[in-house]
Amino acid sequence: MSAVSRATPDTLPAWQTLRTHAEQLKSIHLKQLFGDGGQRWEHFSRHVAGVTLDVSKQRWDEDTLEHLLALAQEAGVPAAIKALLSGKRVNTSEDRPALHTALRLPADASLELDGEDVVAAVHASLAEMEVLVARLHAGQWRGATGKPIRDVVNLGVGGSDLGPLMVTHALMDFRPQDIHRVEVHFASTMDGSQLADYLSRLNPETTLFVLSSKSFTTIDTLSNANTARDWLVGRLAEHGSSPVHAELVVRQHFIGVSACPEKMCEWGIAPEHQLRFWEWVGGRYSLWGTIGLPIALVVGMDNFRALLAGAHSMDEHFASAELMGNMPVLLALAGIWNVNFLDIRAHSILPYDGRLEHFAAYLEQLEMESNGKSVTRHGESVTYSTCPVLWGQLGPNAQHAFYQLLHQGTQPVACDFIAPLKRYDDVEDADTRAHLKAQHRLALSNCFAQSRVLMLGDDAIEDDGPRPEHKRYRGNQPSTTLLLDELTPTTLGALIALYEHKVFVQAVIWDINPFDQWGVELGKKIAGETQKLLEHEGDISRTDDSTRHLIEAFWAAENN
Ligand code: F6P
Repeated sequence: MSAVSRATPDTLPAWQTLRTHAEQLKSIHLKQLFGDGGQRWEHFSRHVAGVTLDVSKQRWDEDTLEHLLALAQEAGVPAAIKALLSGKRVNTSEDRPALHTALRLPADASLELDGEDVVAAVHASLAEMEVLVARLHAGQWRGATGKPIRDVVNLGVGGSDLGPLMVTHALMDFRPQDIHRVEVHFASTMDGSQLADYLSRLNPETTLFVLSSKSFTTIDTLSNANTARDWLVGRLAEHGSSPVHAELVVRQHFIGVSACPEKMCEWGIAPEHQLRFWEWVGGRYSLWGTIGLPIALVVGMDNFRALLAGAHSMDEHFASAELMGNMPVLLALAGIWNVNFLDIRAHSILPYDGRLEHFAAYLEQLEMESNGKSVTRHGESVTYSTCPVLWGQLGPNAQHAFYQLLHQGTQPVACDFIAPLKRYDDVEDADTRAHLKAQHRLALSNCFAQSRVLMLGDDAIEDDGPRPEHKRYRGNQPSTTLLLDELTPTTLGALIALYEHKVFVQAVIWDINPFDQWGVELGKKIAGETQKLLEHEGDISRTDDSTRHLIEAFWAAENN
């Protein structure tokens, strides 16, 4: 705990102004804000790196934004952005930088960290990854029995799974045609259910596992890896007349990706099949480097580099734009306004493009693992709210699931609508193209309609006479709309970087560290102890009444 008394965010002058301002604005319905004339679109929208941001449907006015920008200044956002991008030790509790932006710097950029040329190191690791990708795409990577690899299973969890899974799915239209095709799969859950499914249908001779773990200690990933190794060794030993050595199997069927080479070696990953990265890349910020191997395997290195270039464009904008025009800052301020001044604690992510199916799950980790904190960077308890509860689903499907709550429930919820403007231009068959383009228009109509109904409520339609209460819509739910010119590697890169920076700006204003995750540690420790109890090691009576009965129920089932 620091002895120096500091100004907490809620004591800053702009915070006080915003409080008073919110009292005045709270009673004003969104439809009134639009009805009062004014150029809301002009004032509240931006276009950067192929992404259009529309925050005009937030429950704010021009004065609000001015006060929020003052708050960002008073909280030191401009200096914090510089500190982040230049490699200062912004991850204070772990005393290291958070330099994921360095992973997307172009080769001719320069950045030094502790005397090391970071850009050169980053591009050297990309080159190593490219060699492995090229071998697989050329059909030259052979399994222990000599057959070319056809399936790659990524074993990882959290940041070593969600980012690559989300991006490979989003960019499925960008698979190169002229390569030896490898199918990429993902298994993350410690219970083994995803892995068991793959093991039941993949051919061990032609399957390669990528063991992705920054720490290389994550039990979820290592338990999947051990199961996969035994499956391969067992199956390939039975293969033909000459059994295959376990060592050869591990060598030819495992790639390791980690910031811990010693642990990869201990596990048995051949040094030449190890891809490394650095402690200064946070797990949930790591898809831009070697953890992105599955992405490069699906879309090829050119598209992977385009993803990096898109993110870099957003980084450059973030670094250089004035706060007023700065897209990540605006997105962050909309969230601060909702959480801290309008008391809106729920935030839904709603993409209107099936390729973004995993985007909400990815953002759940990015936002909630980063900013789900209640202690400041100086070790004091916060006296204000931080990260809202964030969840989501493909918008069109959510319309048939939880939109009821958005429209008529009791919770205020802020929503992000996300969609590409253009789609399906490259579908060859003219009839199918016309149908699919019509479906794209349908999706966009729904996307635009939903944010309008959430805003206006009953006023979204011409007055059609009196209606009973249960058919009424109160509206006034704020939303942001994000439109991509098209969904491409470049615009996706920019979109992800936009959210990363949004999270950072909010953390600066809340005075919390978005780059650690101490809140996940205790659960891991207690799970280890509980595992021992389940295995009859230790004294079950020392646990609580509920847990004891749950364990006994498990023992009873096991003995049945
Ligand atoms: O337990 C949380 C966490 O550390 C995440 O931050 C991380 O993305 C995930 O686990 C996986 O960690 P690793 O890549 O070290 O296996």
